[in-house]
This record gives sequence, structure tokens and C-alpha cells, in this order.
Amino acid sequence: MSNQLLAGKRGVIFGALDDKSIAWKVAEAAVAQGAQIVLTNAPVAMRMGTLQQLGEKLNAPVIAADATSMEDMTKMFSEARELLGGKFDFVLHSIGMSINVRKKKTYTDLKHDWMLKTFDISAVSFHKMMQVLYNENHLSEWGSIMALTYIAAQRSFPDYGEMADAKALLESFARSFGYHFGTRDNVRVNTISQSPTVTTAGSGVKGFNEFLGYAEKMSPLGNAPAEACADYCITMFSDLTRFVTMQNLFHDGGFSSMGMNPAVLDM
Ligand SMILES: NC(=O)c1ccc[n+]([C@@H]2O[C@H](COP(=O)([O-])OP(=O)(O)OC[C@H]3O[C@@H](n4cnc5c(N)ncnc54)[C@H](O)[C@@H]3O)[C@@H](O)[C@H]2O)c1
Repeated sequence: MSNQLLAGKRGVIFGALDDKSIAWKVAEAAVAQGAQIVLTNAPVAMRMGTLQQLGEKLNAPVIAADATSMEDMTKMFSEARELLGGKFDFVLHSIGMSINVRKKKTYTDLKHDWMLKTFDISAVSFHKMMQVLYNENHLSEWGSIMALTYIAAQRSFPDYGEMADAKALLESFARSFGYHFGTRDNVRVNTISQSPTVTTAGSGVKGFNEFLGYAEKMSPLGNAPAEACADYCITMFSDLTRFVTMQNLFHDGGFSSMGMNPAVLDM
């Protein structure tokens, strides 16, 4: 159902890799709600071809940019602004990658050069993105910047590896940059902490399928699906949430407030 909550708004969406990606669902929902968008992802993701199909379906230009490169980000945002015909009303950072997690390295045996890469791709890229947006004055007044995160930033999830530390950094960047964007531009910056979701990045975590079942049982409302996460992002991009900023917002069916759920004992 469309309420045209984003009618007339322009946005940039990072991180749609395939139709399971959370960013893919956000892109579809944003256009259905009346927005005009530009899609972007790392050059390597372009070769898979599916993002181009999404671009065609949504009538959205696709621009390749490595989110760890200030040069790529600067170029991509200025092209996107020209293509969309004005400043951005919303930007979504939906990027995460850890070679340590992919290779199932335990937290006590991480490769630190991979760890730095994880931090750069999964967290520092958010700061880089915001620095370009801030210095080039790319956001409209009352614009909204969002990033996706996970509760391992606050609680211990041993198999999530150093992604937990990357998410803690990402959430901190939202608060720190949120001050600057708020005071100068009336722009908000928030993170959404999403339930475990079956995607390429999510499924790379050791024991993911078992954990998915555990989280499903533990959460009074069950795991939040990617489509529901997209709906939450839409409300955060809309004018209905203009005074919410510098927050980490849990979108997890209640998981983050649970101590023990008897349903888990029956598993
Ligand atoms: N899937 C889950 O269980 C879950 C739960 C909570 C939060 N999240 C977060 O949601 C976000 C999106 O992940 P997803 O689950 O949709 O998986 P996904 O694999 O579909 O998306 C991750 C994206 O990051 C992109 N990316 C990687 N390196 C990049 C780079 N250098 N430059 C630009 N883009 C790059 C990938 O191409 C991909 O599109 C991530 O931040 C992830 O940590 C996921």
C-alpha cells in the first residue's frame, strides 16, 4: 500500500546486491512511496548484473562507487545530485562485509589486516559518506540519513566476530555526525538495528540458520522481515519523524528487550 510518504523526495540507496538485500526492499518501497532514487554499490557488485535490473525496474540510475573511497563517493554523489535534479532528502547506508566472518575465524584468532578492512567497509565508510554529504551541502533541510546495524554492538554475539565492533563504531558515527548535521542543516542521522535476516551478508555468519530460529522464538513478534525493515526506513525518511535523530532504533520484534522466553526452552 502506498501513502506517497516520499512524494517529491530524492534519495541515494547504497547496498542492494540481489533481491534478498535489505537495501533492495528499501529501494522498491521508496519508489512505491513516490521517491526518485539513485542506486549505488561497489564496482565488484555491478558485475553480478542484478542491480542493473532493479535500476531498470525502478527507473533509477545506477552508479558504481566503492564506499571506502572518498574519490568515488565525491564523484558518485555529485553525479547523483545532477541526475536527480536537486539535493537529497534521504540517504541509506546498507553496507557490511567481514573476511574474518566469511572465513569463520574465531574472535580470539582474527587477522587484524582483515579487521581493519571490516572497519573501513562496514563503519568508516559511513563517516566518509557523511563527510562528503556535509562538506558538499548535499542534503535538503529536514533530510534523513540512515544506516543499518545489529544488536551485537550492545550485547555479545560471539560468532559475529569483529562485525560487532564495526557496528558499535557505526552507531557512534551516527551520534557524532548527527550533532553537526542537526545544528547546521536540520538533518537527522539514525541507525536501525534489524533482526537477523536471510541475505548474502547475514548468511555468512557461522551458525546463522540455527540462530535465526533462536531469535524467532525469543522475539515476541518473531524476527522482523526485510520488507518490514524497508517500511521502517520509509517512515524514517518521511516528514513524520523529523525530530528523531542520533538514535539507534531497534527493529527486531522485541528481541532487544527480552531476558528469557519460555518458548526457547521448548525448542
Ligand atoms: N542480514 C542480517 O541479518 C542483518 C541484520 C542486521 C543488520 N544488517 C545490516 O544490513 C546491511 C545490509 O546487509 P544485507 O543483510 O542486506 O546484506 P547484503 O549482502 O545484501 O548487503 C551488503 C552490501 O554491502 C555492499 N558492499 C560491500 N562492500 C562494499 C564497498 N566497499 N562499497 C560499497 N558497497 C559495499 C555489498 O555489495 C552488498 O550490496 C549491512 O549493514 C548489514 O550489516 C543485516
